[in-house]
Amino acid sequence: MTERRKILVTSALPYANGSIHLGHLVEYIQTDIWVRFQKMRGHECTYVCADDAHGTAIMLKAEQLGLTPERQIANVKAEHEKDFAEFLVNFDNFHSTHSEENRELSNFIYEKLKANGHIASRKITQAFDPEKELFLADRYIKGTCPKCKMDDQYGDNCEACGATYSPTELINPKSVISGATPIEKESEHFFFKLPEFQDFLKTWTRAGHLQDEVANKLAEWLDSGLQEWDISRDAPYFGFEIPGEKNKFFYVWLDAPIGYLASFKNYLSKQEGVDVEATFNDYWKADSDCEVYHFIGKDIVNFHALFWPAMLSSAQLRTPTKVCVHGFLTVNGKKMSKSRGTFINARTYLDHLNPEYLRYYFAAKLSSSVDDLDLNLDDFIQRVNSDLVGKVVNIASRTAKFIQKSGGTLSTTIADEALWQKFIDADAIIAGHFEARDFGKAMREVMALADAANEYIAAQAPWSLAKEEGTEQQVLDICTLGVNMFRALLTYLKPVVPALAAGAEDFLGETLSWNSPVAFRGGEAINKFKPLLTRIEKDKVDAMIDASKEALASLEAQVSAPATADSELAKEPLADEINFDDFAKVDLRVALIAKAEHVEGADKLLRLTLDLGGETRNVFSGIKSAYQPEDLEGKLTVMVANLAPRKMKFGISEGMVLAAGPGKKEIYLLEPHSGAKPGQRVM
Ligand code: MSP
Ligand code: ZN
Repeated sequence: MTERRKILVTSALPYANGSIHLGHLVEYIQTDIWVRFQKMRGHECTYVCADDAHGTAIMLKAEQLGLTPERQIANVKAEHEKDFAEFLVNFDNFHSTHSEENRELSNFIYEKLKANGHIASRKITQAFDPEKELFLADRYIKGTCPKCKMDDQYGDNCEACGATYSPTELINPKSVISGATPIEKESEHFFFKLPEFQDFLKTWTRAGHLQDEVANKLAEWLDSGLQEWDISRDAPYFGFEIPGEKNKFFYVWLDAPIGYLASFKNYLSKQEGVDVEATFNDYWKADSDCEVYHFIGKDIVNFHALFWPAMLSSAQLRTPTKVCVHGFLTVNGKKMSKSRGTFINARTYLDHLNPEYLRYYFAAKLSSSVDDLDLNLDDFIQRVNSDLVGKVVNIASRTAKFIQKSGGTLSTTIADEALWQKFIDADAIIAGHFEARDFGKAMREVMALADAANEYIAAQAPWSLAKEEGTEQQVLDICTLGVNMFRALLTYLKPVVPALAAGAEDFLGETLSWNSPVAFRGGEAINKFKPLLTRIEKDKVDAMIDASKEALASLEAQVSAPATADSELAKEPLADEINFDDFAKVDLRVALIAKAEHVEGADKLLRLTLDLGGETRNVFSGIKSAYQPEDLEGKLTVMVANLAPRKMKFGISEGMVLAAGPGKKEIYLLEPHSGAKPGQRVM
């Protein structure tokens, strides 16, 4: 065995305001596989994580649920831990950023940054909700796009036309939280002087800590110049108060990565006979020879590969050995979508399917690159059934019974030396792929070996041979090789499918370890083989998708329930009076929805082809959250037919259809009584 490495591994800390979904699991499964691999290789590897418990979103979520933030984050933590455990994500410690360890470490690091002159303070002006008495981040402000005039757009960019702007440019801006019109307000903020780390970061990002593609992306930012980073938030805020300041809190992203250290420290404090300070220092001192690996998604690279190493270096702590960035999960080639039922929560998956199916499928698709990966549900069923059940488990089920028949003890003869040599030669190659996070390549090697094993067994056909006289030893030799090949494959697969490996261990009567090349096992007894894994049934997958759609419906019912207390008129008072001529300017027509389609890349829009009884019009309508295209085609509705065409991100919109309702699932398209004809004017 090579030298015993000391490795601390983290996954990003999930926010404590929502459930774990299959997108998150790409990361936690990827990390867990890598950690299990390192542990199997005999290294001292510690995997820590925590909930990311601070910030406005969590504060508001708790308020909405009528809970204290502490209660809310405790509930979510219990849920997260249960989900992770059932997906066999085996943290050594799962902590919270709202913890004493984290408060102390955050204060400690902040004081260091300050003492080193890396903290600035100045007054800034921001949008403020005068009703809620809260400063508003851009995503908490909505209004009409100043460019294309589309309603209901966020404070920083327009989904319809793609324009970017500042929230002050929005027409009729409203606080998403209270509905009040935001005002501008000044307050003092604290900043981390990131630009002073420009040279350090230029070197650091090219020093082998990052994938090339990530370093290249960061080089663009580094070349265009870094900005000071605003690390404070005003009360009310759920987080840690900044030492020495009143009503100022650390921005959630300041103490979140420090949560990695806090979780590690908390872990150490729970170990018997460990000197917490000394061990912590061993890992985190500037010249530590331990390794630190952060696994993260591509959306949070700047926090981990710019701010974080800069902070650590200012605090005279070590920086990460590697920041390993993965891409995003798509389902059936598209962004996960609540209405399509492809936004699948961990719990919904677990209600229907075996977690190891997903672990294997993700492993088969993961590489060391930042590319997105797709969960194609048909491919998922096909791949898992054919690889795990059809190839791997099949090797044992075809050979084990003949060993039982001849007394249950393995032969000492290697029936086909060349074939077995293949399994030995592959050992280092597969291990290399695991180390490099090229799990897909590792799985391909494993399945190529499984193919070779199955070909051998099919060619030898022990089941036919066994019917002949005097072949007992030969059958035993063949099947012993079969069992050994199965054993090698399960060793290589154990980081990916630990429960399946545990089943194989029961059968083999041993613990599969991998700290030296796999060796042939002969002359020993094994146990009776029991079926290890069943095939994925398509109806289970369908049921999971349906359940994901239902979960959405019940969630939205919950969210919209409190609003119905107000009358509709109170929510939207009548507009100013107009005269008949004003009204007559609006030419409303009955229109037939000849075609309704999804628009690639648009979250809210459907493209409607409206037939006015001869002429057709192309209209983009923000009704996607409430309607499936197929439910609309062939129906009549009413449109504003003389509205000036508008250029939108996805094309030109030539009018508007009429609909009522607050939005989301509650959008109700107008439909004339039967008998109305396309093109008729509505007066
Ligand atoms: N709380 C921050 C991380 C703080 S780390 C100091 C956060 N939380 S998160 O819950 O939004 O995301 C947790 C991790 O899951 C991130 O690395 C994120 O990239 C990853 N993913 C979230 N959705 C994902 C997909 N759809 N696909 C793949 N990974 C995804 O960010
Ligand atoms: Zn716009």
